Amino acid sequence: MPGKSVLITGTSTGIGRAAAEMLAAKGYRVLATMRTPEKGRDLAENAKANGWDLTVVPLDVRDGASVRGALDQAGDIDVLVNNAGFEVWGPLEEMTVDDVKDQFETNVYGPFRLITAVLPRMRQRGSGVIVNVSSVAGRVSALLNGLYSASKFALEALSETIHYEVGHFGVRCHIVEPGGVATPFPDNRRLVGAAAGDEGSPYRELITQWEAAADRLTGGARAQPEDVAAAILDAIETGDKLRYPVGQDANLVFTARKAMDDAQFESAMRQQLGLAW
Ligand SMILES: NC(=O)c1ccc[n+]([C@@H]2O[C@H](COP(=O)([O-])OP(=O)(O)OC[C@H]3O[C@@H](n4cnc5c(N)ncnc54)[C@H](OP(=O)(O)O)[C@@H]3O)[C@@H](O)[C@H]2O)c1
Repeated sequence: MPGKSVLITGTSTGIGRAAAEMLAAKGYRVLATMRTPEKGRDLAENAKANGWDLTVVPLDVRDGASVRGALDQAGDIDVLVNNAGFEVWGPLEEMTVDDVKDQFETNVYGPFRLITAVLPRMRQRGSGVIVNVSSVAGRVSALLNGLYSASKFALEALSETIHYEVGHFGVRCHIVEPGGVATPFPDNRRLVGAAAGDEGSPYRELITQWEAAADRLTGGARAQPEDVAAAILDAIETGDKLRYPVGQDANLVFTARKAMDDAQFESAMRQQLGLAW
């Protein structure tokens, strides 16, 4: 699809940045969107030095006017990559409805705003691709990530429905599901309750145990953002399946989940993680 235009959200760092660079290097016209365009100066300079067709465009996925402004500037879009996201992290009991809204505003309403904005034109044209960056947490929930997981489950549900509804019109939708990826993502989490250091919380011990356990699934090895960018490229260009898991941990979890019932899976994961909670 080189020469086609692709709009990517959240390209200031991590997976979005790697995808913007990989697709631009492949010859796509890249609209590299980010909510703070100053963070994209080096990306724009790199694009210029390499002769890439890449423009940094301001876009905050939480703001409808910002989405409309970016799409007006972008013109016709062949491919939309919903990548921007973050995590509200902590025990569910210590969350509020405002925390739920905050999590969903970026991870669910954001992609929804973009999808509904680009779909009419894609449908009329009879072509287009939407790639939604979900997570292993979009199919399997875990301790402490209830809101994040709920937001990615919701994104997966929207994606499946879109896949069923608009394939008829020649528009494809794909879901990319990374496990742990080496990006600034963990540093950008918003921590709540015990996770934010609330000493009086009954969940303090869980935070300690989880932090010790988290790397046991991967042996500390995380996928690189370029691995996820390659899966995004594959989804755009091959598009032969709905879901694209990325990383050893994601594949291990999905394989185990498929092979086991609920109790077997819980027991296997507790054992793997060494959790005594
Ligand atoms: N890293 C992982 O382990 C992992 C695993 C599975 C799935 N994912 C998913 O992969 C996607 C990218 O994450 P990442 O790992 O690359 O993390 P990251 O480095 O923290 O990147 C997140 C990106 O989203 C942007 N963003 C956040 N809120 C936004 C908003 N309101 N409007 C526009 N952009 C916004 C950030 O921009 P700012 O710089 O302005 O904050 C940043 O560009 C996310 O959807 C995440 O859920 C990550």
